Amino acid sequence: MIPQDRIPRHVAIIMDGNGRWARRRGLPRYYGHKVGAESVREVIRTAIDFGIEYLTLYAFSRENWRRPSVEVEMIMSIFRKVLNREVEKLHKEGVKMVFMGRINDLPPDLQKLARDSMELTRNNSKLKLYLAISYGGRTELVDAARKMVSLAIEGKLRPEEIDENSFRKFLYQPELPDPDLLIRTSGELRVSNFLLWQIAYTELYVTETLWPDFRREEFVRALEDYASRERRFGGVKE
Ligand code: IPE
Ligand code: IPE
Ligand code: MG
Repeated sequence: MIPQDRIPRHVAIIMDGNGRWARRRGLPRYYGHKVGAESVREVIRTAIDFGIEYLTLYAFSRENWRRPSVEVEMIMSIFRKVLNREVEKLHKEGVKMVFMGRINDLPPDLQKLARDSMELTRNNSKLKLYLAISYGGRTELVDAARKMVSLAIEGKLRPEEIDENSFRKFLYQPELPDPDLLIRTSGELRVSNFLLWQIAYTELYVTETLWPDFRREEFVRALEDYASRERRFGGVKE
């Protein structure tokens, strides 16, 4: 049993390893993404059970557009199917859905699905689920810089008004607290352009488990590991 005050408020996950999962079974990469979608469902349910407030899932990076077009199309069709099937259920469970990234890059029907699900679930508060799709950490910072410069040109922002707190207001989702815990599956020791500003003091947890195998039990293991950590934020131990 993890004490409630040791449960992270915000968990972010780099869901990696779908391709390797499929390859190990001699299956096309598509199956890895498909089974990975089941892990998403289980992780969301587990987050609700543990009273986690914010869950951010890295589903597709801006760099992922460079993959072969067949794979990109398959991933988009999985997003489409999963959203069509799950949004209503998530809404009933009180999940608020927010899409994070350059949503305008998505095929028009998916943009609509994304906007409709945000609209439908906007007043929910059980779990706030942020889906990072066509997301890039550097792009987010560049977009923030653009917004700031535009305001400055209009005379509505002075350089001395910019500090860490006001900078945050220009990120895609200013209301999203920094992640307490960042999980990466499949063993890669890198952040792959995810939440660059927000992870300054986030606890990292990397598991060799491939995303399609990352289910409740694995998630609980990560939460237990987090519960045993001592966070310092640059200070000293009391
Ligand atoms: C993660 O799995 C899913 C996406 C990036 C969309 P990968 O497709 O990156 O799987 P690996 O890393 O090749 O195993
Ligand atoms: C990170 O995985 C992006 C997502 C999980 C959506 P990648 O597979 O794209 O990352 P790299 O290429 O291994 O760094
Ligand atoms: Mg990968």
